[in-house]
Amino acid sequence: MIQHNDAPNELLFLTSNEGKYNEASFIMNMFGIKLVWRKTEKMEVQSDDVETVALEAAKAAAIYESSPFIIEDDGLFIDCLNGFPGPYSSYVLIKLGLKRVLKLIEDDRRARFKSAVALHLAGRFMIFTGIAEGTISFAKKGDLGFGYDPIFIPDGAKRTMAEMTVIEKSTISHRGKSFTSLAGYLKKFH
Ligand code: IMP
Repeated sequence: MIQHNDAPNELLFLTSNEGKYNEASFIMNMFGIKLVWRKTEKMEVQSDDVETVALEAAKAAAIYESSPFIIEDDGLFIDCLNGFPGPYSSYVLIKLGLKRVLKLIEDDRRARFKSAVALHLAGRFMIFTGIAEGTISFAKKGDLGFGYDPIFIPDGAKRTMAEMTVIEKSTISHRGKSFTSLAGYLKKFH
């Protein structure tokens, strides 16, 4: 358990993805916690679960980073593709692009985004997770957000995540959930 005097006023977010930082920073700001962007490529181990990837990346980063920090790993898991691209989401987006991902989808369009945020604070590691359930759209729509947003329609919505503002997306997204849970934990010590 961290102590009251371990509570950080600001937290480093180690990521190379500006879209992630912008959303996470917006969410943490609502809780009065300042996120500072440290542009860094994370070390990625091969694993099917985002928790393991985030935790191992945080352990590797803790060797050189002494300030309190977080690292996030995400993936899009598509049911008819047995969870693919999952841990390969970033690579598949670069190599195939959204149009070719859409061509792989069959009748069952169910999918989910998973987010795992690893916190390194006072020599300890903790993981906070969030899942957004939804379906894959038939075509790309919207130009907000990043990554797979133009083809992901969250449950309960009629628009893709790329047609939502950061505020709208954050109330239902995987990242909104994992960072809200992280902020709730940190607020206990302020
Ligand atoms: P990683 O966590 O950096 O490995 O990213 C996984 C992949 O998922 C990247 O290609 C991101 O673009 C994508 N991704 C992560 N979060 C989101 C999101 O909120 N919307 C759309 N795509 C995302």
